[in-house]
Formats: sequence, C-alpha cells, structure tokens
Amino acid sequence: MDYIKEIERLKKEKNAVILAHYYQHPEVQDIADYLGDSLALSRIAAKTDKELIVFCGVHFMAETAKILSPSKKVLLPVKNAGCPMAEMVNETKLKLYKEEHPDVKVICYVNSTARVKALSDVCVTSSNAEKVISQYKGQKLLYVPDKNLGTYLKDKFDLDMDVWKGFCCVHNDVNKEQVIEAKNKYPNAEFIVHPECQLEIVKISDFVGSTKSLLEYVQKSDCEEFIIGTEKGIIHQMKLACPNKKFYLLTENLACYDMKLTHLEDVYNALLNEESEITVEEHIQINALKALENMFYYTDR
Ligand code: 13P
Ligand code: SF4
Repeated sequence: MDYIKEIERLKKEKNAVILAHYYQHPEVQDIADYLGDSLALSRIAAKTDKELIVFCGVHFMAETAKILSPSKKVLLPVKNAGCPMAEMVNETKLKLYKEEHPDVKVICYVNSTARVKALSDVCVTSSNAEKVISQYKGQKLLYVPDKNLGTYLKDKFDLDMDVWKGFCCVHNDVNKEQVIEAKNKYPNAEFIVHPECQLEIVKISDFVGSTKSLLEYVQKSDCEEFIIGTEKGIIHQMKLACPNKKFYLLTENLACYDMKLTHLEDVYNALLNEESEITVEEHIQINALKALENMFYYTDR
C-alpha cells in the first residue's frame, strides 16, 4: 500500500492535521503538516481549527494537545508510546510533597502526566524553561520530574529549588568518556546537547538547548561539523537545513525507543480507524490547562 498517498487522502477526508516531533522516524517527519519541538507543537495544537489531531510523538505530548484543545479528537497512533521520564513523578507522591511544603511553587516539565500538570503552578519545556523559571526567582520552588534540566536551571539561576529525581533514560546515559572520544575523533566539530543530559555534560558542551534551538544553532553557527548530544531524529532536519555540514551522533544509544514506535502504517491506521484516542478527565484538564496557560503567559511576556 502507498501509505503516503492514503494518509494524504484520509487527512483531507477527515479534516485532520498531523503533528510530529523531531524525534520521529524521518519518513514520519516527512508526512507531518507541522513538525516541531514540544513547545512549538503545543502552540499549534492550541490553535488548530482541524477537528482531528494525529500526534506522532509520545503520550504526554498528545495529552498536552488534548488539554489545550479539549473539544478536538486527539489520536496517538501507537497507544503505548510513552515517555518513561513522565512516569517518574506521580500524583500521590506530588500531593504528599505539597502537603509537607505548602508554600512551594511547583514547576512542571511538560514531559509529565496531565494529573501532575494539574497539581502544578506552571509548566515549562526545554525551550522556555530559562525564561519562565527566571521569573520565579526568589520563591521556594520544586521542579518535577527531570533532575538534569532541574539541576541545570538551579545552577544557572541560583534558585531555592528542590529537584525531583526523574530523568530521561536516553539523555541521562550520555557520559564524559563518549564526549572526549568524539571530540578527539572530530576535533573541528562543535559539541551540542539537550539539557536533559547531566550537568557535567552540559558544562563541556559548546551549546545547550531544546531540540528546536539545536536545529537553529547548527544553521547559524559558522562551524561546519557538529557532534550531536540529543536524540538522533533531529539529524534528519539538520541535514535538510544544512546539506553541506556534517553531523555526528555522539552515540547510537541516542535513540528514544518510544519515539521510534510510530511508523507510517500506524499513522494510516490511526486516521482510518480513529482509535487510540486520548482522553483527559474534565477536572484534570481544567487544572492542567491553567499550568499550561501560565507557561504561555510567562513565555510570551
Ligand atoms: P523538546 O522540548 O526539546 O522537544 O524535548 C522533548 C523531549 O522529550 C526531549 O527528550
Ligand atoms: Fe522521554 Fe527521553 Fe524519549 Fe524525550 S527522549 S520522549 S524525555 S524518554
């Protein structure tokens, strides 16, 4: 079957929009109407006038789209495509922490469940975390769930902040030896990383940023070669944007198992059968939306 043609046909027939994260397989990125990092995709989900959103990414991203557009039907093509980090903080533990620390503001990484967002004051993504959190300086804070991005922010802005112990199993595994080896192998390359890597890795990088900022960075840098310290999917867009530059993935382990579960066939089936619909209970949606709206407010002002 020609999945690309069929996806195109069903998309028109059903008035659907396909969103895809940069970590998706290249062929899935290529059929998306909108491609982006988690912040950009959430903005599109909030604004779209399409009735059906097919979200090629992981569960928390599709769930965020549903929170932002509750009247739309949101589909995640592969039901069990999750983000292990998002499961590393849960409602029960967070409620307990809040009871013990009633004056703390909870800053929640968008890689989290709707239930956790609903208990938080504001969400952040790796694109806007610095801007948002700097506006909370001076207050007592808790950051959930990513210890690496949390530690990076705490260190950079000297915050009075507890940091949860979650991590991304893909980025957290990057180690110094791999970086030293790659720098020796490619002495003219710049080493760029996602802030979900450990702080000691971020500190030896030439640039740290969200998926989108890394893509923008390689376009504007004078350098011709880059060692990539984030998920391999982004290299597809880097090569399209800069066909004459060279990109070396730091290690083949930089592949997110869950992001790679979605194939063209799954996108086709999602559109055809409209299964794997994301639902969020109304009281959770209302409170989670407040944390996301606060995020947009502090990002855009
Ligand atoms: P971005 O916010 O950079 O899209 O990152 C999302 C993610 O899951 C990174 O591992
Ligand atoms: Fe989650 Fe890490 Fe995969 Fe991003 S790369 S979706 S944080 S497991």
